[in-house]
Amino acid sequence: MMDGKFDNDIQAVVDADRAHVWHHLIQHKPFETGEPRVIVEGKGMKVWDQKGKEYLDAVSGAVWTVNVGYGRESIADAVRDQLVKMNYFAGSAGSVPGALFSEKLIEKMPGMSRVYYCNSGSEANEKAFKMIRQIAHKKYGGEKHKILYRDRDYHGGTLAAMSAGGQDERNMQYGPFAPGFVRVPHCMEYRKEELGLGHLSGRDFGIAAANLIEDVILREGPETVGGLCLEPVTAGGGVITPPEGYWDRVQEICRKYDILLHIDEVVCGIGRTGTEWFGYQHYGIKPDFVTMAKGVASGYAAIACCVTSEAVFDLFKSDPSDKMDHFRDISTFGGCTAGPAAALENMRIVEDEGLLENCAKMGERFMANLQALMDKHDVIGDVRGKGLFLGAELVKDRSTKEPVTEADVGAVVAECGNLGVIIGASNRSIPERNNVLCFSPALIVTAQEVDAITDAVDKALTKVFG
Ligand SMILES: Cc1ncc(COP(=O)(O)O)c(C=O)c1O
Repeated sequence: MMDGKFDNDIQAVVDADRAHVWHHLIQHKPFETGEPRVIVEGKGMKVWDQKGKEYLDAVSGAVWTVNVGYGRESIADAVRDQLVKMNYFAGSAGSVPGALFSEKLIEKMPGMSRVYYCNSGSEANEKAFKMIRQIAHKKYGGEKHKILYRDRDYHGGTLAAMSAGGQDERNMQYGPFAPGFVRVPHCMEYRKEELGLGHLSGRDFGIAAANLIEDVILREGPETVGGLCLEPVTAGGGVITPPEGYWDRVQEICRKYDILLHIDEVVCGIGRTGTEWFGYQHYGIKPDFVTMAKGVASGYAAIACCVTSEAVFDLFKSDPSDKMDHFRDISTFGGCTAGPAAALENMRIVEDEGLLENCAKMGERFMANLQALMDKHDVIGDVRGKGLFLGAELVKDRSTKEPVTEADVGAVVAECGNLGVIIGASNRSIPERNNVLCFSPALIVTAQEVDAITDAVDKALTKVFG
């Protein structure tokens, strides 16, 4: 437990941070007078800041990452043991933990076969994009090179990943983007009017939403479209669970037009959606590429994987006499052994502690609590989620679905923080649609902790909206 004692002079740490660290995602002007938050310690579901204030973390390190919770000595030990034996060699050679983790991972992914290691979700997605482009050149004279991505999905912060970014506000001021990326509509039933599908519901809506992808393919020309990149459940774009019938139809469309299906499991991967290891496995999807990062080693080491089918892999070794025939890519830190060493132990913990089951069970409780909050607070227009990956969309008026302001959403997040609970919210992502509270506690969360999180949300909603 946190004992209030620090190895370092904590004020000196905070001063150094204020003077030199450029934090992610936030405006720094307030730090000229106030202090940035420095997270000093974590244990289980809890973290402590520089003032010794304790928080229950309902978002696994703020961005859906620390799936097995904080302070796992067995992961730290596995990483340390590996590092003193062999810390690094470029990925053109193999490593012991790299080989062992790939075998364990593929056991969980029937139909998939090869693991390409790198170090961030963005990078893993770019590997898949590069493979799709190279396949276009190898098989189709370069013509079938376009990559489709979906409105409201996010695939990373690097420029090619942003070129496949469905969040206009997030992309604003960073263009121009890479050519050859084409947007398809989202599949969010709550906002189906935006799609012109307000008259449909359930399976009919799901199929019609998938057909909107086909419309784009036909408009672009199927002979130009090589890949389709989708999140199984959209994360930062508003926790969008797919409608019934959607995925079957998406898959049919991909087969019909010979389009490779790339599933971005950066958030959903390794148990976040409960019962299954990956989000796509709930929907009977047979992908060609699966990318993953965040929860793979729960943030104990940086690791990302671009996993492919054997059929994709085969295309990159078909002609050894051609020196351009293989995947000519390297990721320096994809050769770090800390990542797969941590990932192996992380996976053992998920299995031995039954965390897929806990995730499903606690996810149901969390959803029931959110539904109860919806009965009480008119400002909640919709609740969505799968496993421990949940969202509540806040609206001024349930009939018009007009979103509350981002400032009000921020006030709810801040009030939860005051109450000692860290929650998340969509922010600066989608114009006029940054109105979704996000919840993604570690998969170890208990029933009492789920209730504590939703109690804080209840109080915060009352404070902000009355
Ligand atoms: C669905 C999804 N894909 C990719 C990424 C990018 O991952 P990274 O920040 O590791 O590059 C994220 C990050 O939030 C994400 O949510």
